[in-house]
Amino acid sequence: MGFTKMGPFVKWAGGKTQLLEKLHDRVPNKYGTYYEPFIGGGALMLHERPQSAIISDVNEQLINVYRQLQTEPRSVIRAVNKIDEHPCDKEYYLQMREEYNRKISNHELDAECAGLMIWINKHCFNGLYRVNGKGLFNVPYNNKQSGKSIDEVNLMSIGYYLKNAKVEILCQDFEEICQGVKSGDFVYFDSPYIPVSKTADFTDYTKDGFSYEDHVRLAELFKRLDSAGAKVMLSNHDVPLVYELYQGFRIENVDVKRFINSDASKREGKEVIITNYEV
Ligand SMILES: C[S@@+](CC[C@H](N)C(=O)[O-])C[C@H]1O[C@@H](n2cnc3c(N)ncnc32)[C@H](O)[C@@H]1O
Repeated sequence: MGFTKMGPFVKWAGGKTQLLEKLHDRVPNKYGTYYEPFIGGGALMLHERPQSAIISDVNEQLINVYRQLQTEPRSVIRAVNKIDEHPCDKEYYLQMREEYNRKISNHELDAECAGLMIWINKHCFNGLYRVNGKGLFNVPYNNKQSGKSIDEVNLMSIGYYLKNAKVEILCQDFEEICQGVKSGDFVYFDSPYIPVSKTADFTDYTKDGFSYEDHVRLAELFKRLDSAGAKVMLSNHDVPLVYELYQGFRIENVDVKRFINSDASKREGKEVIITNYEV
């Protein structure tokens, strides 16, 4: 089986499908290993299909899906199709969510758990991923009936790619996975966004558990990787903090429409793409 066009298997907050062409235009023509420490839905990696890559995310369930697809994509497809045999309504959704949470509690990171994660992403409100203090998934049903929850060809292609290219899949903090970055490697950072504030004196930068200190830590890492000779690209909201943290690097503004936000007024905005090299 060859490569067909691949895309994310989940709808993910901050998913990069919209910015894809702009990001693609800025990926260097030549690089060693591709690093993506905040892989999320993986839109850019699945578009670029690097032959050697190291990807990571702190979301253990998401990483389990990548790992299961790498080793047994057919079992993941079978798991989703089995759940799809029953039409979806609120009661069924809650039943599946309970089963998913049982697996999370028991740490059962298998193909069924990956199938549940993909299915739930399709049927939960806005494709959100949110857990409570105990780590249990608590997003409500999206109240939509839908037919098949997956594109089997897409999942098989992703599985084929992950297996046949040299892709290492880790579940670690972004700083840790970058320890092995060498001169000539390419790193793409798409961290949780810095929130766009309505008031100038708004100072709470924490969103999705990613704090101001994490953004500073990321900017410091960006500078270290730059000094080490890596090519580094980063995307974020177009907010003042970004200009402070990345002063001296190339910062470009780009327009995007954000579909994942339920609030229509927040669906359009400006983002930045920062690089430490000439495009
Ligand atoms: C904006 S999303 C990435 C979106 C992705 N580029 C896409 O196309 O879907 C940010 C990701 O960072 C992950 N994350 C949050 N904190 C992290 C950390 N300290 N280290 C690594 N990943 C982290 C989240 O789980 C989330 O999947």
